[in-house]
Amino acid sequence: MTYGGGSIKRNGLYDLVKAELNAAGCTVFELSGIEPNPRVTSVDAGAKICKEQGVDLVLAVGGGSTMDASKAICAAACYDGPAWDLVLDHSKIKAALPLFTINTIAATGSEYDSAGVITNWDTKEKLPIGSSLLWPVVSFLDPSLTYTVPANQTIAGSCDMMSHFFEVYFVRDLSPIAQGLIEAAERIAITYTPIALKDPKNYEARAKLLWASTLGCNGFANLGSTGSIFPCHAIEHEVSAYYDITHGIGLAILTPRLLRFWLEKDPSVAPRYVDLATNIFGLRRENYESEAALIEAGLKALEDFYASLGIPSGLSKLGITNEHFAAMAEHIKTHWIGSFDYCFVPMTNEDIVTVLERSL
Ligand code: NZQ
Ligand code: ZN
Repeated sequence: MTYGGGSIKRNGLYDLVKAELNAAGCTVFELSGIEPNPRVTSVDAGAKICKEQGVDLVLAVGGGSTMDASKAICAAACYDGPAWDLVLDHSKIKAALPLFTINTIAATGSEYDSAGVITNWDTKEKLPIGSSLLWPVVSFLDPSLTYTVPANQTIAGSCDMMSHFFEVYFVRDLSPIAQGLIEAAERIAITYTPIALKDPKNYEARAKLLWASTLGCNGFANLGSTGSIFPCHAIEHEVSAYYDITHGIGLAILTPRLLRFWLEKDPSVAPRYVDLATNIFGLRRENYESEAALIEAGLKALEDFYASLGIPSGLSKLGITNEHFAAMAEHIKTHWIGSFDYCFVPMTNEDIVTVLERSL
């Protein structure tokens, strides 16, 4: 049984789960203290317990960090060597323990996908680990478990969810089915996040957010489309690897800058920005004197939404400077899941640095 820094002890979930496991006659070994932006050191510690105790399955009780670390633990428990090997080379994952999850936050969708993200603080790298062997066997989603998520994490989770859907929205060959699902998910985040913030125990709001976030990374949102290399995530993970910032907050700062950069570099992508304005933010074409004005209003609506959540106006507010931007761009080129030649508007290293600088 894996969990994070103690939220499940404070809100009673730990006792509930332990009672169920005891009643089922399970012998339970625990790994606690999994960090946000989970470290590979936690993964190695978990794999060690699994190997030494002959653990049969892993039960992750927590958020994306706990679930991600647990996926890596499941793989590393069946591998003879350090877990980081598996992050660097997914083809080395030949077996994995079965993973069960009890998700406690609407955010990553890790409960319903086959990937995780692991940080190596020594090498300043935050990289994905993925394999078809890492899909959770069963994930429990009870919206009431997210009532205790604090406001800042509710906000970060919603911004993360929104980014997952934007990553597969701003693609060249968006399919109509994917488009409908994505636009609905974005509207859900925009509508229900403020309600959950005002009224944390609002079941409907928590349920809507949890269900939408669960569909963020499992492929449903790119049904019929080629898919995406998740460029905003690639950039944010670099920033997190250096500065340990909250994933969703980093994404919310970067997203409008990236979208504006793409439109500026290749105005032929404008139609998707019209969709953003009309289908997601509900703006009406006839109320604007030109398509450009409508697009600008859509981007402004997105920026205003983030600002209404209290997202910092730039990375510099988080103490970040441009010191490592060139290294980040270079690192993405060699280690990310796909080339930036294939994002919505192809990007060079200089382009990545430009977006980072505009995000300061
Ligand atoms: O650690 P505890 O004490 O449990 O507290 C956590 C943590 O402080 C708290 N929290 C979670 N559920 C709670 C709660 N507090 C009170 N009540 C609850 N019910 O929230 C804090 C953040 O938890 P964390 O697990 O880090 O959040 P999140 O779910 O946003 O996960 C973020 C990590 O997932 C990765 C991110 O990069 C980041 O490392 N991602 C994973 C993805 C995937 N597997 O598909 C995709 C995402 O794009 C993302 O990259
Ligand atoms: Zn994310």
